[in-house]
Amino acid sequence: MILIQILLFHLILDLALSFHSIDDYGAIPNVNSNDAAHANTMAMVKALSAANQDPSDREVLLPKGNTYYVFNMTATNLVNVIFRIEGTYIVSDNISEWENIMGHPPPIPEVHSGSLNIWNSTNITITGGGSIIGQGYTWWIYVWFNGSHADHRPYLVHMVHCKDIEIYNLYLKNSPYYHLNLEDMLNVHIHDIDIHVDIDKQKELLKKFGGWNKELDLPTFPLNTDGIDPSGKNFLIENVKMDLFDDAVAVKPSNSAPGRYSNCSQDMVVRNVTTLFTVGMAIGSLTNDPLTNCIRNITFENITMYLPLKGIHVKTNPKTSDGIGIIDSITYRNMHLIGSIWMPIYIGPQQQQQPGTSGTGCSWLYPIKDQCPTNPNVQISNILLEDITLEGSLLWPGTINCDPESKCKNMTFKNVYNSGPFLLMPIYECHYAEGIKSGSNLLPLECLDIDSGNQNIKPLRMENPYLKLREVFPSSKLDEIGSPNWQKLKELKIKYLQN
Ligand SMILES: *[C@@H]1O[C@H](CO)[C@@H](O)[C@H](O)[C@H]1NC(C)=O
Ligand SMILES: *[C@@H]1O[C@H](CO)[C@@H](O)[C@H](O)[C@H]1NC(C)=O
Ligand SMILES: *[C@@H]1O[C@H](CO)[C@@H](O)[C@H](O)[C@H]1NC(C)=O
Ligand SMILES: *[C@@H]1O[C@H](CO)[C@@H](O)[C@H](O)[C@H]1NC(C)=O
Ligand SMILES: *[C@@H]1O[C@H](CO)[C@@H](O)[C@H](O)[C@H]1NC(C)=O
Ligand SMILES: *[C@@H]1O[C@H](CO)[C@@H](O)[C@H](O)[C@H]1NC(C)=O
Ligand SMILES: *[C@@H]1O[C@H](CO)[C@@H](O)[C@H](O)[C@H]1NC(C)=O
Ligand SMILES: *[C@@H]1O[C@H](CO)[C@@H](O)[C@H](O)[C@H]1NC(C)=O
Ligand SMILES: *[C@@H]1O[C@H](CO)[C@@H](O)[C@H](O)[C@H]1NC(C)=O
Ligand SMILES: *[C@@H]1O[C@H](CO)[C@@H](O)[C@H](O)[C@H]1NC(C)=O
Repeated sequence: MILIQILLFHLILDLALSFHSIDDYGAIPNVNSNDAAHANTMAMVKALSAANQDPSDREVLLPKGNTYYVFNMTATNLVNVIFRIEGTYIVSDNISEWENIMGHPPPIPEVHSGSLNIWNSTNITITGGGSIIGQGYTWWIYVWFNGSHADHRPYLVHMVHCKDIEIYNLYLKNSPYYHLNLEDMLNVHIHDIDIHVDIDKQKELLKKFGGWNKELDLPTFPLNTDGIDPSGKNFLIENVKMDLFDDAVAVKPSNSAPGRYSNCSQDMVVRNVTTLFTVGMAIGSLTNDPLTNCIRNITFENITMYLPLKGIHVKTNPKTSDGIGIIDSITYRNMHLIGSIWMPIYIGPQQQQQPGTSGTGCSWLYPIKDQCPTNPNVQISNILLEDITLEGSLLWPGTINCDPESKCKNMTFKNVYNSGPFLLMPIYECHYAEGIKSGSNLLPLECLDIDSGNQNIKPLRMENPYLKLREVFPSSKLDEIGSPNWQKLKELKIKYLQN
């Protein structure tokens, strides 16, 4: 009897504690070599495959206290699997070996793959309290130096066509490219993760290779280290902290290509997110397409952004084909942006130029430099900004640059309070936006037709938000990086006003 009890006890214990540790599949912890990284890559593939076939134990473990160098692992057709990353997953930065794996030279146009790839899978959880470290620096310098024709930087995590996904309790750092690229997904919950890019290192690099405006002491070049790039349907992204120099969240379109979960990227909520720097809570970029690129019903709420380059960011791309694009029903609510470096609100053509390319046609300096063609085939409608406080916006309050033919339809600005210094321009740059404004300031008369009055504008509220910032992002060397050259900006403003 006792024996049976002991056996039962062990059985239950085994069941409760059982998992597929990658160490049991040939992983080599704590060694930084190609051989170890290849072994670890294959160990993860095997462990995930074993868990996927195991009738009872569906969990894969990357053990705590260990570090594993990895190249690219791909798992497909997983169902009901948990990947518990308790230790440290490090993407190998041996670019020569990556090129042996991925092929050289990289194809044009660029094709990016991930390090941790999961495709065509259902009910997958990635968690564990550990870290996924990208070692992006080696790639950034490589790409900058060699031009974008050498660019196949990996995403940290790349999931395609997966449903019922949860990603939580993880720390992601220095991805060579986007951190989480989640394409054509259905039902995704991302929460309680931190995403961190070493922006001091990026600054150093940008300065060295000319991606930093020395005069203004501001970054002019994004290294595409986006935080989260979702597409598909039904996402909830919440309780996230991130500091990086590119889009925090950038919702990518879907279209009616066969086999997708949704013909439109839609029904997403992003809430309770705190950021430092970043190029915003972004929609797009999106261009028109014969299959109709579409983003619809996306809500960003309860978001605090410190020193964003851009904060509220809706971006289109130039027309390259037939067909239309749709950006519809986008809500930004209850947001607080502090010390926006470039402009806190940007709705218009994407301003981007990768090294070695000619860019997208819209000047980084628009509207200072009046070059920014719009796309008449992208229809922008029902954009709502509500209860938005923008404090200390450095250069100007915002840009709304819509197409003269298609216009931006039914835009609502409700309690969007914007405060300067606005060193370059005191009002929004605004073209062809139709809609309503109330309780919002600095929108020129002709911008948004119906103005129900600018009364009840909240008073300027500057209670030294930077103190809070230091609490939330204690490791940032803000004295160095977050202090634009005010004197130069003032001189530039004078120059600008004289022209
Ligand atoms: C890594 O990527 C290469 C190129 O796409 C592919 O051939 C290879 O199968 C991938 N390796 C793994 C383990 O997924
Ligand atoms: C999802 O997978 C987990 C882990 O294997 C399992 O416990 C859970 O029951 C699965 N959910 C559904 C709806 O099948
Ligand atoms: C990087 O990979 C290359 C190509 O496989 C190899 O020759 C070299 O020894 C590796 N470097 C290191 C530091 O492991
Ligand atoms: C995922 O499934 C699609 C459709 O069945 C297929 O075309 C694609 O090759 C699969 N991808 C992988 C990586 O298995
Ligand atoms: C540029 O590419 C070459 C050839 O692949 C490589 O040897 C070199 O290290 C790269 N430059 C930088 C700065 O990474
Ligand atoms: C917001 O997210 C932070 C983590 O970034 C978390 O500590 C906090 O509890 C969340 N707040 C709410 C109301 O969920
Ligand atoms: C997506 O499919 C639905 C149902 O077929 C259709 O009503 C809708 O117009 C399509 N949307 C787009 C953007 O193609
Ligand atoms: C918009 O998305 C939310 C979830 O993000 C969903 O609850 C709501 O039903 C969607 N609205 C429409 C009109 O589809
Ligand atoms: C957003 O924050 C407000 C307080 O500022 C709170 O009342 C509300 O519940 C929060 N909403 C969400 C969706 O977190
Ligand atoms: C205009 O936009 C607002 C807010 O997004 C929405 O509530 C309203 O229904 C829209 N009006 C029309 C006519 O679509």
